[in-house]
Amino acid sequence: MCADRSECWRTQSEPGARADGPSTGCASKPSATAAAVRPSPSRCAFPRLGKEISVGANQTLLEALEAASVDMIFDCRRGECGLCALPILSFEGELDHRDVFFSAAEKAGNTKLCTCVSRVYGASITLDTADR
Ligand code: FES
Repeated sequence: MCADRSECWRTQSEPGARADGPSTGCASKPSATAAAVRPSPSRCAFPRLGKEISVGANQTLLEALEAASVDMIFDCRRGECGLCALPILSFEGELDHRDVFFSAAEKAGNTKLCTCVSRVYGASITLDTADR
């Protein structure tokens, strides 16, 4: 079990080691492909803000946004409340949705991402910040 999301990324990157369920802070199992890939740095662009940030392998997207002084709305930091979700404009790679806020169909649609627990595996993602 991990105390916070950063700890999850650092200690539970192996598929079998990842926890499941909101009480652990690791909301859902990663997809088979994403699970086979260790967390890696990625780029995240915010056209509305004119910003592009790097998300470290041991950092959540929400943490990277906070470090970049993007005024985020959040609460649980465990993928439960959905307050940190941002609209996805585009992405390269595979999205790893780990929240329990969105339904399976919503996750499959890849239109929003909970920044506290989910991330992209691969090169980059572009997100909107209309309400930030
Ligand atoms: S802060 Fe609650 S889902 Fe991200």
